[in-house]
Amino acid sequence: YPLKRPAELAWTFAGPFGHWDLQQLQRGYKVYKEVCAACHSMELVAFRNLEALGYSEDQVKAIAGDYTVTDGPNGDGDMFERPAIPSDHFPSPFANPEAAAAANNGAAPPDLSLIAKARAVERGFPRFVFDTVTQYQEAGPDYIHALLTGYGQNPPPGTVIQPGTHFNPYFIGGPALAMPPPLSADAVTYDDGTPGTVDQYARDVSSFLMWAAEPHLVERKATGFVVMLYLLIFAALVYLVKKRVWANTP
Ligand code: HEM
Repeated sequence: YPLKRPAELAWTFAGPFGHWDLQQLQRGYKVYKEVCAACHSMELVAFRNLEALGYSEDQVKAIAGDYTVTDGPNGDGDMFERPAIPSDHFPSPFANPEAAAAANNGAAPPDLSLIAKARAVERGFPRFVFDTVTQYQEAGPDYIHALLTGYGQNPPPGTVIQPGTHFNPYFIGGPALAMPPPLSADAVTYDDGTPGTVDQYARDVSSFLMWAAEPHLVERKATGFVVMLYLLIFAALVYLVKKRVWANTP
């Protein structure tokens, strides 16, 4: 079956001087919360991590307070439910993996915490040495964007689509997956006036999932830049010292 290669998009976090667009990450979080979270957990991300997107401590408390988590056992050995606090993690919408699979035609929706990195590894077809670096980082969000916008196309003649699955030429498990097209125009209302198109939602939520999977991506690149600069200056100094020390050697 001919798998389509995702388009390579221009992400703000790409390249050695990449940065997070916090407005975009907040929009992506909104899409995750209002659409994806109905089926997908994000169990490695805590509510307090959202402060990195520009939310204040009080806003994070309010966000967490909208969720209910199971805690316990209490003094009587019972589990109990309580509103979430910032140190809790995004809970799963299903009680267990079996319930998740049962609600989705037998295919449990994967946890999205690391999906941007997981799919980058699988799709990172390196062509050159430099590609192993660039493809690895951006192939994940490219893939998620392509998958979310890739529904509604006609399958090539002869393609067998199992009942309850949806054709998508980008799905690595191809040709069809159990996830119905999750996005539709104007499904999420943005507060900043950004148009509510499927393409925009897909870009924003893909960026958000990249942040979730690699929150220190941009910071690491900035540190790397300073390290390279330091090494460059250091190399020049070592060269000059070497010339001086060996200056009188015949
Ligand atoms: C699979 C993202 C909404 C149900 C996936 C995958 C991703 C993803 C990246 C993995 C595909 C792969 O294995 O390569 C998203 C995003 C969503 C969203 C970003 C929100 C915009 C939903 C919703 C549902 C759902 C609302 C339930 C109605 C599933 C299921 C699978 C899946 C059942 C497993 C598909 C299979 O393996 O056949 N999703 N999803 N997703 N998703 Fe979603």
